Amino acid sequence: MIVVTGATGNIGRSLVTRLLADGAAVRALTRDPARAALPAGAEVVRADLTADEGLEPLLEGADALFLNLAAGGERAAGALVDAAVKTGVRRIVLNSSMAVTDSPADESHFIARMHAAQERAVRDSGLEWTFVRGGNYATNALAWAPAVRATGVVRDAHPGAQGAPVHEADLADVAAVALLDRTGTHQGRAYPVTGPEVMTVAQQVAAIGRAIGRETRVEQISEEAAAEAMAGPHLPREAALELVRMFGGAVDASPFPVSDAVERITGHPARTFARWAEDHAADFS
Ligand SMILES: NC(=O)c1ccc[n+]([C@@H]2O[C@H](COP(=O)([O-])OP(=O)(O)OC[C@H]3O[C@@H](n4cnc5c(N)ncnc54)[C@H](OP(=O)(O)O)[C@@H]3O)[C@@H](O)[C@H]2O)c1
Repeated sequence: MIVVTGATGNIGRSLVTRLLADGAAVRALTRDPARAALPAGAEVVRADLTADEGLEPLLEGADALFLNLAAGGERAAGALVDAAVKTGVRRIVLNSSMAVTDSPADESHFIARMHAAQERAVRDSGLEWTFVRGGNYATNALAWAPAVRATGVVRDAHPGAQGAPVHEADLADVAAVALLDRTGTHQGRAYPVTGPEVMTVAQQVAAIGRAIGRETRVEQISEEAAAEAMAGPHLPREAALELVRMFGGAVDASPFPVSDAVERITGHPARTFARWAEDHAADFS
């Protein structure tokens, strides 16, 4: 039995489908089973991981856990690791971040600090582990959807910022291989996972335009205005500004790091951003 946190999320939904296709038993956690629309083969279980309820029943009988910080945050993730130890879960695959570099830079900003701390907690648990350190997610582009739908003009502080956006299905595929691994190949490994090609923000916006058959473009705004727009209940304004500045640092990063982890681990090439934009055309139309 594999327990998937964030099962209705970008990675989780794809992961549940992929694990079921591989014949695994899957327990999919969601705060609202009635709205989850998860595949019939999954055991869908209601869980608000921030509710301070005992988490152990969620993990009873499980061999492996896919742990996503998006599902309730750091405290919930820490409590789940403790519960995994108590209930005899053997393996955790942590959805971490490429911001973690195992260097002092891990203390330099919010995103790296948070994921590095979670990696330490998983390592210290004594369980088997694999860290899927995703680079920038293609799904971040969904934040542009309202602007694309309304005017086709995306406001961004760094139109020239580079990334190698990774498709959520590729992150799910890598996680699935690690969760199902019978050979130990992926145990104790941290994989930076990116998409296959470097693209600027402006190029990504243009690719979305091609996918939906409409003209799209980027208009540059200040870092402060971008941080203000990005901040929210789970992302304080200061952290948003750190992030915006970090993206700005990628304007001149040359060469931008592209990992071959998707192809190496799953055996198929990483999906392109153009493919992602086609898969999500309905979100932008
Ligand atoms: N964005 C990036 O570029 C990037 C890069 C590297 C790493 N990451 C990591 O990836 C994570 C995002 O993964 P994702 O895109 O797959 O997440 P996501 O789509 O935002 O999914 C989050 C899921 O968590 C569930 N959830 C939220 N609050 C919960 C709670 N209190 N209890 C239980 N479940 C809860 C929600 O499901 P229900 O509503 O069904 O409960 C939701 O579907 C980030 O948090 C970060 O750690 C992101």
